[in-house]
Amino acid sequence: MSNPSLLILAGDGIGPEVMAQVQRIIGWFGDKRGLKFDVSEDLVGGAAYDKHGVPLHDDTMARAQEVDAVLLGAVGGPKYDELDFSVKPERGLLRLRKEMDLFANLRPAQCFDALADFSSLKTELVSGLDIMIVRELTSGVYFGEPRGIFEEGNERVGINTQRYTESEIERGARAAFDLAMKRDKRLCSMEKANVMESGILWREVVNEVAKDYPEVEVSHMYADNGAMQLVRAPKQFDVIYTDNLFGDILSDCAAMLTGSLGMLPSASLGAPMDNGRPKALYEPVHGSAPDIAGEGKANPCACVLSFAMALRYSFNEGGEADRLEAAVEKVLADGVRTGDLMQADGGTPVSTSEMGDALLAALD
Ligand code: NAI
Ligand code: MG
Repeated sequence: MSNPSLLILAGDGIGPEVMAQVQRIIGWFGDKRGLKFDVSEDLVGGAAYDKHGVPLHDDTMARAQEVDAVLLGAVGGPKYDELDFSVKPERGLLRLRKEMDLFANLRPAQCFDALADFSSLKTELVSGLDIMIVRELTSGVYFGEPRGIFEEGNERVGINTQRYTESEIERGARAAFDLAMKRDKRLCSMEKANVMESGILWREVVNEVAKDYPEVEVSHMYADNGAMQLVRAPKQFDVIYTDNLFGDILSDCAAMLTGSLGMLPSASLGAPMDNGRPKALYEPVHGSAPDIAGEGKANPCACVLSFAMALRYSFNEGGEADRLEAAVEKVLADGVRTGDLMQADGGTPVSTSEMGDALLAALD
């Protein structure tokens, strides 16, 4: 059997810097754990624009459709700010998400104990925190029609439409329940069924899907209460399943429970391919960080943890994902810090590649 395939799109700014460390780690799993990948590399974002005049070449798009998983760094930068909207670096990423039909966006909020001080909440509220927000990514109010700014009498009206079909709610729900089965088998669905018909349908469909997952304990919460509960007692949650708009807000809120942007991974999953693996794109939550790009200061952990998610969710290597996450935990516990993880008074930060060295040493 051939090795699983990975397409690496490092992108712009700190993207290639953090991805270089992930490449070393991928190499480590091949050498030390016999977990070999067929890795190919290509361009996305500004890097692709510089070479091809488009932020994602058709050949790259076709390759992304074929591989078992795509790992992306970051796109964008001031150099491209004046470009026409149609060729902006971000359009490359949007095209990937759209054409791969990645409808389930996974945003974990996991607290590494060594960083619990970074949380805006009290340490005891976040210590050991490990939740996963599944946001529906391809429908809802960001896409629904009608939309626009229209004249109405002697003033204008801005319109967006929250629209969800049963099948859209269902496929995201299945992705969320599948995740819950691999985790703590608890799922909380969030909508506003009290004031929105789309929320009523959401709740009905989630309850219907739940019948196929009798082991998962299901609960429902209005999204506004969910926001309160997330900052009051976040550890009550395991998997949260919610729509595009609420998920956008709730995932950013949950992310900050755990500290720095430099630590936050994400995954976007689509329908299963012929081999049973979902279409998948893994990427850090952060952008290309032009303010520190090229200086070797970037924290590679968000990108490394995105690869850990790939191990777990695309390659069914949950044990190896645990191993990688434990290495991150150990390095942090040992006090190794990139600049973004330091308090104003803290010692000397390590460089991106020194963080990579420390992670490899911890893996050994
Ligand atoms: P950003 O995430 O690039 O940076 C925000 C702040 O966090 C900066 O001070 C940066 O230095 C710091 N930071 C981010 N990642 C870090 C890391 N790994 N280690 C240490 N510090 C880190 O967001 P910003 O500044 O709003 O956007 C910069 C560019 O990135 C823009 O062109 C934007 O469009 C693009 N962007 C791309 C995204 C993507 O590729 N998915 C997501 C967000 C922004
Ligand atoms: Mg957001």
